[in-house]
Amino acid sequence: MISKIFIALLAIVSAAPFRDSYENGRLEKRLDNGLGKTPALGWNGWNQGQCNAATASTALNTAKAFVSLGLKDLGYLYVNIDDCWASKARDSAGNLVPDPAKWPNGIKAVTDQIHDMGLKMGLYGDAGRETCGGYPGSQGHEVQDGKTLASWGVDYWKYDNCYTGTGFNNAGANTSTYYPTMRDSLLNSGRPIFFSMCQWGRDNVWIWGGSVGNSWRMSDDIQNNWGSVASIAAKAATIAQYAAPGGFNDLDMMQLGNGKLSGNEERAHFGLWAIAKSPIIMGTDMTKLATSTLEIIKNKGILSIHQDPLGKAATTFQPSGAAAPSGSSLYPYWAGPLSDGIVIGLIAVDKAGNYSVNFSDVPGLGNGSFSWAEFYSGKTANGTSASFELGLHDMAVIKVNKSAV
Ligand code: GLA
Repeated sequence: MISKIFIALLAIVSAAPFRDSYENGRLEKRLDNGLGKTPALGWNGWNQGQCNAATASTALNTAKAFVSLGLKDLGYLYVNIDDCWASKARDSAGNLVPDPAKWPNGIKAVTDQIHDMGLKMGLYGDAGRETCGGYPGSQGHEVQDGKTLASWGVDYWKYDNCYTGTGFNNAGANTSTYYPTMRDSLLNSGRPIFFSMCQWGRDNVWIWGGSVGNSWRMSDDIQNNWGSVASIAAKAATIAQYAAPGGFNDLDMMQLGNGKLSGNEERAHFGLWAIAKSPIIMGTDMTKLATSTLEIIKNKGILSIHQDPLGKAATTFQPSGAAAPSGSSLYPYWAGPLSDGIVIGLIAVDKAGNYSVNFSDVPGLGNGSFSWAEFYSGKTANGTSASFELGLHDMAVIKVNKSAV
């Protein structure tokens, strides 16, 4: 009897969904639900087709593409549906109901198929009265909705912030007071569900987000242009220290493949999100990817940086003689620690040309000769520095071995 009680207590303690952490420079309890130890990799339909992509057939076609393109084997697991998947009204018991025209066999039939392919399924909801698109929000239904998601086999819940205060946006509402309600609902739902907070970087979410979600959006919505990509990345450099296994800054869904970014810009977008340890959630039609885009997102070296178990985000560093970073515009020089080395990012922010880095300037390195590899060109060498010819907005992603040779 005593040993049974002891085992039961042990089970409760070991399943505690929080861990002590000093990641923010002070003791805090970070969410530890077993998920998101490294940033999420997957797809979401919003940047591809907004409401039109919230269908069973789009989810299943994406899942099939993940398998046939070899993306699943590289770690792309999450197939996430965004706003507009639901019917406009809850049922008489107050449950969310999938739109029967978009989900003829319901959600569970789709999650079952996605799970059979070895993938995971995500859905979208909202902390307010309605989603941004005007579908039912979870306010007052948090516990019920968490149970519904678990019963459908949902693995990932993106939680938006419309209609939480007065009007469309969250004017007057403090997100830190109501996002934990859904966290607790998911923790008690009976299923591990990744909690993706989407409150657009309000209320300095990066400071407290680690105790609430597995990721938190840190900006307004990404737009399909280089200026938007660059300004989000510039802001991410100022909050890099808050990323850690189990909870990451979310720089928003990718715009690769959507026809506006150049090849150079697609490389930099992907490379920056990878070294900043943002979720990489593709936002384009995965059945129609250009070979050039596919090549970028299948880059094994860059994916290994993104999925490095240390889970620390890179930030800017100032080489001797260079102007200081400002935080409001994209800076060319980035570096961050890896479990087995240092990653350096060089971005041709304002002009094409020769970009070089002296390893002695890089935090975590120093004087001496180091071996390195650049993942887009495949170049490898030993030395005290590395340099690259980069076209406008292109990026070099370099992994440096920590011990001098
Ligand atoms: C907000 C979110 C977007 C998307 C839309 C859907 O704008 O930030 O990512 O989910 O709502 O309506």
